[in-house]
Amino acid sequence: MCGIVAYLGQKRALPILLEGLKRLEYRGYDSAGVSLYKDGEVLTSKTKGRISELEKLTSKNKTDATMGIGHTRWATHGKPNEINSHPHTDFSNKITLVHNGIIENYTTLKKWLVSKGVEFKSDTDSEVIVNLIGYLYSGYDSDCEIPDTQDKFEWAVQRALNKLIGSYGLAIICSDYPDSIICARKGSPLILGVGDNEYIIASDASAIVEHTKQAIYLSDNEMAIINRDGFKTLTIDNIEITKDLKDIEFSLEEIELSSYDHYMLKEIFEQPEALERCFGGRVQLGESKIVLGGITDMARKLTRAKKIIITGCGTAWHAGLIGEYMLEQLARIPTEVEYASEFRYRNPIIEDGTVVIAVSQSGETADTLAAIEMAKERGAIVLGLVNVVGSTISRMTDAGIYLRVGPEIGVASTKAFTAQVAVLAMLAIELGRRRHLSNLEAASLLKELDSIPDKTRSILKQSEHIKTIAEENYEQNNWLFMGRGFNYPTALEGALKLKEISYIHAEGLAAAEMKHGPIALITNGTPAVFIATLGSHYEKIISNIEEVRARGGKTIVIATEGDENIKAFADHLISIPDVPDSLQPLLAVVPLQLLAYHSALLRGLDVDKPRNLAKSVTVE
Ligand code: G6P
Repeated sequence: MCGIVAYLGQKRALPILLEGLKRLEYRGYDSAGVSLYKDGEVLTSKTKGRISELEKLTSKNKTDATMGIGHTRWATHGKPNEINSHPHTDFSNKITLVHNGIIENYTTLKKWLVSKGVEFKSDTDSEVIVNLIGYLYSGYDSDCEIPDTQDKFEWAVQRALNKLIGSYGLAIICSDYPDSIICARKGSPLILGVGDNEYIIASDASAIVEHTKQAIYLSDNEMAIINRDGFKTLTIDNIEITKDLKDIEFSLEEIELSSYDHYMLKEIFEQPEALERCFGGRVQLGESKIVLGGITDMARKLTRAKKIIITGCGTAWHAGLIGEYMLEQLARIPTEVEYASEFRYRNPIIEDGTVVIAVSQSGETADTLAAIEMAKERGAIVLGLVNVVGSTISRMTDAGIYLRVGPEIGVASTKAFTAQVAVLAMLAIELGRRRHLSNLEAASLLKELDSIPDKTRSILKQSEHIKTIAEENYEQNNWLFMGRGFNYPTALEGALKLKEISYIHAEGLAAAEMKHGPIALITNGTPAVFIATLGSHYEKIISNIEEVRARGGKTIVIATEGDENIKAFADHLISIPDVPDSLQPLLAVVPLQLLAYHSALLRGLDVDKPRNLAKSVTVE
């Protein structure tokens, strides 16, 4: 949450910063700002609202400044308004910065600075950082001398960073240093793109890829000092370090909308190809096995795991829940699923033989990172299922499996979810094959898995039909989503999708639980979405559908193609191809994504940037 971008090069900085901020807008979009450095002056423009507002505000700014910093905000401390938006400038008017993260000891530091006479303008924790740097830079901290070997700006930043508790991605400029940007990270991602005589620093590679494909991924407690003649990387304790330049592995086209109206729709429709990429080279039908390169070294440990704990947040947690069903059924390994935010604060039992699997699209979710740290401290082997290559989680886990679905920009996760489930399916089938599944069973599941992309294509053709269902129901303010077995988590995900982007209240349920409370919510016309595909729960869920119909609920039923019997129970029917129970979520979720998409559009909402949400939650 919050996106930061900074530029130092030969070109006009303003359009580059605005373009970069648009790419990062999914990280937060309640206010935005830029600061440009020109001839000893720092010119700041900031506003409440989206980047389009900032564009309007700066449209008359013709400055040819070639250095600047920018920010798009998701408010944590202080309301979204102009004063609280970034960049923030210190009391002495010399230091200006943008910050992504949360400073936990900001009240203590603020009190201290106020006691020294420093005045604050905003309610943010970020202003504490800039005033602290400014205070140190101005030489007020008399008990500490600046070493001859270091310049004052660098020294003040390092000294301030060492006083901070919490997380930060920072880009900082100083009006006394015309050609210098300092950036630093702890807990919030930061990438330094290295181009031809230009540098672009950003919270993620999407803001960089247009300018260069070479980047340095800063790790925690590291900083980079960038000047016109080069850059150096060092720790915040002033130890110089060498970092490798890495390739950014996606192209500009992948982050463009192309012919789609929204990223969410694009990403829903990308699922067949995304899954093909995810399976490519991994699902080996000829040899009836699955090869997951990232975990070859730990395959034995995984096969012998005594317990698996899957952790993640939001949609990733839903994928994890499906993973639990898969790993227990197919591999017969006891599996638990935990919200990362709960797991990190519990005292979980992690013994020899416990494997923790962290699931995350972004690879940057603060709670998931903390859960991994805790699991590692307790001696667990940690496996990461991550989409963003080079992200923090991908670097801190013992081994990992990338989702390979390319950048996901829509705030509501779609293709990353199906790929997370697909990877968990591959893992469960392969572990099952090594443990107890017969060759025949494994081979048949692999064939089914391989058929998923084409079957997904056929579901996508029903988008217009699903839109007509949305048209009849989008004005209803209470929806229920129900499934059983493997499709219970699918129901949770369907409800979450609708909630996130259409602001309709929706509840996902294990269908049998309906009668223990939620059935009270059903009145005439309440949309009740059932996943009632053929399989082990079919008869039971038909009874649940009957119970809803008896109370006037309107049933939207996801059923198996060719199932004639179900028609009598469905006010609206969406058919999906047949696959075994364990793989059904991969298909059943697709109509639910489309239902949420069309409903939100009909309500006139911005599906890619739903209110109050951010795609990458890098704060606790
Ligand atoms: C946010 C996003 C969700 C996402 C969750 C976990 O809440 O809005 O779409 O599922 O974070 O994110 P991760 O990147 O760890 O999968």
